[in-house]
Amino acid sequence: MRASPLENAFLLEIDRLSVVYELKCVPSRAIENISFALRRGEAVALVGESGSGKTTTAMAITGLLSPNASICAGEIRYRGVRLPVESDAAMRPHRWRETSVVFQGAMNALNPVQRIVKQIAEPCMLRLGLPRKDAISRAKELLELVGIPPNRGAAYPHELSGGMRQRVMIAMALACHPSVIIGDEPTTALDVITQAQILRLLGELRKKLNLALILITHDLSVVAESCDRVMIMYAGRIVEEGNVPEVFAKPKHPYTQLLVESIPNPANGKRMIRPIPGDPPNLLNRPSGCAFHPRCPSAIEICAVEVPELDKCGQGRVACHLHDSSKH
Ligand SMILES: Nc1ncnc2c1ncn2[C@@H]1O[C@H](COP(=O)(O)OP(=O)(O)OP(=O)(O)O)[C@@H](O)[C@H]1O
Ligand code: SF4
Ligand SMILES: [Mg+2]
Repeated sequence: MRASPLENAFLLEIDRLSVVYELKCVPSRAIENISFALRRGEAVALVGESGSGKTTTAMAITGLLSPNASICAGEIRYRGVRLPVESDAAMRPHRWRETSVVFQGAMNALNPVQRIVKQIAEPCMLRLGLPRKDAISRAKELLELVGIPPNRGAAYPHELSGGMRQRVMIAMALACHPSVIIGDEPTTALDVITQAQILRLLGELRKKLNLALILITHDLSVVAESCDRVMIMYAGRIVEEGNVPEVFAKPKHPYTQLLVESIPNPANGKRMIRPIPGDPPNLLNRPSGCAFHPRCPSAIEICAVEVPELDKCGQGRVACHLHDSSKH
């Protein structure tokens, strides 16, 4: 069966987006010129070291940026329509209903003195306008959807395991029927087995509800099982994007190459994560040219001077002068 043009259209488009934080009256750019697009049902990973701008990207998309942050360039479109990200009030009808987030550390996000079924029912009342009784029914349905028996809804957060609490967070994120879910390190605080269960649940929900998923992580090894495409971020920019098998098999950007090499692989005796030498850049003192040049083993002269553009390269995109045939 041939897909209709609408099924092929992008659900979410991030178009040349830049965000600044005001830090002691000094503006510093946390993300710069980020562009990517997402289709319904697609799973994309956003990977990068701490401080590379992953959470800022998620917050900008959902209109949850902190008060000292602002979008200074670019736009976000949902189903082809520009989102009013500059206004908190205008974003309210969109937030959680179109795009929703699951954060790490469910214990901090849940109210410790309220039963979980009520915590899930609350967004159904507030954002969907459901009467209390219907909201409780919806909350029970959501509990079942994320693999928690509805009768556990009477529990308080401390009575649940870490994995179950994270399932509650996923249920809350699904409350308003969003079509895009962003998981911001949703499994970081969990043990390896629970981490695999939560990633499996997200994958199953994605298929069942035809959700688009943006999975944020600093760990490439969680990407292989869960995502179709991966975007590698460095110092607030996307430096490589491609299909997961291709990027893992043949990373093009030197930073991606080091990230892929750093994945432990007991099959060839590599049991420990090998850190990438050097420090991630400071936002207030970003290196000139390609921000990776002070750490890059392949840097050439132009790298310290000119910012490489994220250009098409094979099936994906890469921002590196070594892949720009016009420069050498
Ligand atoms: N509220 C804020 N005020 C000022 N600067 C901020 C704020 N939040 C984030 N930043 C800065 O913006 C940059 C990007 O941060 P962000 O949290 O998006 O990174 P991240 O990739 O999610 O990192 P992590 O893996 O540690 O979660 C960092 O340099 C960070 O210090
Ligand atoms: S542009 Fe230069 S410094 Fe940056 S990743 Fe490519 S080779 Fe390395
Ligand atoms: Mg983060």
